[in-house]
Amino acid sequence: MKTMIEPFRIKSVEPIRMTTRAERERILRNAGYNAFLIHADDVVIDLLTDSGTGAMSAQQWAGLMRGDESYAGSPSFYHFERRVQELFGFDHVLPTHQGRASERILFELLGGPDQVVPNNAHFDTTRANIEHSGAEAVDLPISAARVPGVAHPFKGNLNVDALRALIAEVGASRIPVVMVTVTNNSGGGQPVSLENLKAVRAVCDEHGILMFLDACRFAENAFFIQQREPGMADRSVREIVQEMFALADGATISAKKDGLVNIGGLLLLRDQDLFQQASNLLILTEGYVTYGGLAGRDLEAMAQGFDEVVQEDYLAYRVRSVEYLGEQLRNAGVPIMEPPGGHAVYIDAGALCPHIPPEQFPGQAVVCGLYRVAGVRAVEIGTVMFGGVQPGPHALPLDQRLELVRLTIPRRVYTQSHMDYVAEAVGEVAAMRDALRGLRIVEEPPVLRHFTARFEEL
Ligand code: F0G
Repeated sequence: MKTMIEPFRIKSVEPIRMTTRAERERILRNAGYNAFLIHADDVVIDLLTDSGTGAMSAQQWAGLMRGDESYAGSPSFYHFERRVQELFGFDHVLPTHQGRASERILFELLGGPDQVVPNNAHFDTTRANIEHSGAEAVDLPISAARVPGVAHPFKGNLNVDALRALIAEVGASRIPVVMVTVTNNSGGGQPVSLENLKAVRAVCDEHGILMFLDACRFAENAFFIQQREPGMADRSVREIVQEMFALADGATISAKKDGLVNIGGLLLLRDQDLFQQASNLLILTEGYVTYGGLAGRDLEAMAQGFDEVVQEDYLAYRVRSVEYLGEQLRNAGVPIMEPPGGHAVYIDAGALCPHIPPEQFPGQAVVCGLYRVAGVRAVEIGTVMFGGVQPGPHALPLDQRLELVRLTIPRRVYTQSHMDYVAEAVGEVAAMRDALRGLRIVEEPPVLRHFTARFEEL
């Protein structure tokens, strides 16, 4: 069959409130031209994020009813722990309320002044938590990752030569951990190959440095490995996941993505001492080690979500539905990050709007255009998101920064006709690109400014 269908039926629906162009004009102005400040019921199709926005299955909802809410030693925790140990192969499992809680604990233990933490590409909260500890967060993408129009099967790979050069320059003793983000979110939702993970592991072993995964989208990454990496076609996604995690000393995971839940996270560790210290910090601010800031029912939903996300019919549909949107944009002549990622299609706003310089936020201009035209909410990943803080000594040169707009697809939420609508909206914005205006910031917080800054159109 030519058509790939959504491998599920819909049992419960959420109505979408339609808005007029005039209404949206007013809403956008009141929100200070920042999509984060728009009320969600004023959005027609919400592609702000794939984080915590997915639909749970009937089995997950059933798990919510089974959840045991004992403070200590809940059976829901032991069920969750066993499922997580089986899938990821780690003895030490800490639940957290979401990914950044795991990051905050990890970098409180491993970060600090003078430390340097490399990554293929840090996402916003990871970078902010590292910098908050006093350490420097360094992005080491491969060169192809900086060229949106050029396809590469593993554009998320970490640049191993650049890692070696960084170690030679600052010394291994200042690098407590090398992170690898799978899939790479700030650079296009692009996967990392198993070969690259092994190469990073080898460099870490040579220098006695820990290697951790930022593994929010581990299942999408594993599916890409199965589809694209030589010799992997006959391996199951579950086996590939196990091989990826076997290479790591630990992982921070936001379960709001490939955990298929609305809230939840994990910190996975091998080292007993680090586990003890992390447990103490967890108890200090998150909760006891058998719930970590979640309810027992959330642990049941997560245990089930991790099982469902490695099912290959689901992953084939998931990756194909993102690719489908990418194809439509490409056919309409819209420049995108090639190839489409696992969770999102990224519009190359820098190429779409050459008349808007980075300091006038071309990505933000496209985000505003999409909302005006069709009520589609997207997110800027460019100078608004990453340009607010003083760049560190190893920051990428300005001309290598990308101005992207992410159309992030929530899991199991929208249908093919929703995607057709989004493609039409992008086509319309692209057709009126010359009329798009840059913006200037009129109010901004000191860190993570994209969440709350307010803008004016120029
Ligand atoms: N790491 C990556 C690669 C992420 O994409 C995110 C979240 C986090 C860590 C933090 O996890 O939100 O559960 O605290 N990304 C979301 C996004 C918010 O929109 O891409 P969290």
